[in-house]
Amino acid sequence: RPGAEGWVPESRELSVLDAAVDGCRGCELWQNATQAVFSRGTPDATMMLVGEQPGDQEDLAGEPFVGPAGRVLEDALIAAGIDPERVYLTNAVKHFRFDQRGKRRIHAKPAVGHIVACHPWLQAEFDAVHPRVVVCLGATAARSVMGRAVVIGKVRGVLLDAPEGVPAPVLITTHPSSVLRVREKPEREAAFDAFVIDLRAASNAAK
Ligand code: URA
Ligand code: SF4
Repeated sequence: RPGAEGWVPESRELSVLDAAVDGCRGCELWQNATQAVFSRGTPDATMMLVGEQPGDQEDLAGEPFVGPAGRVLEDALIAAGIDPERVYLTNAVKHFRFDQRGKRRIHAKPAVGHIVACHPWLQAEFDAVHPRVVVCLGATAARSVMGRAVVIGKVRGVLLDAPEGVPAPVLITTHPSSVLRVREKPEREAAFDAFVIDLRAASNAAK
């Protein structure tokens, strides 16, 4: 059967899941990636943040959110009064999807098939962490957590009832890399501030 289901151990210990994810062959993305990237954070975190997939630097380091988007996320968490060490950080897809252009690896969005294939890992993380709120960073995370496509602009910042299989209410916001893509400084700062407001709302929901 395609998908990660047959590769996810029965254990809900994060260390056991982390050790197993690199061996997953649930879709073809493992073939070109350096390694799988699991998560960072403790099982007692009340706030779970779901990103898209590892980027170039995450793929090399084996850690989520260590590159430029991770820097924005950390700054935004701090600005929202949230201790970055106390959240649980993961991604909807655990292997880096990219297009090779000469020596450069250009980020490629995961397809719905990859998001669905990788979902059993996220489900195992829900069971392991039991967060009080799940924050979706961007459309890929929202597709995975909600089980359907959503328009970020229509749902962002609102606490949504827990969908089937999700242990907590969901708050959808933008991806931190979208803040980085805003060219003009005032607009970029406004995008950052809006992101912080969403994170603060999520953190209030986790209390
Ligand atoms: N972007 C993501 O969505 N996740 C990461 O881990 C890094 C960048
Ligand atoms: Fe498995 Fe997910 Fe990696 Fe695909 S992306 S091989 S489903 S861990």
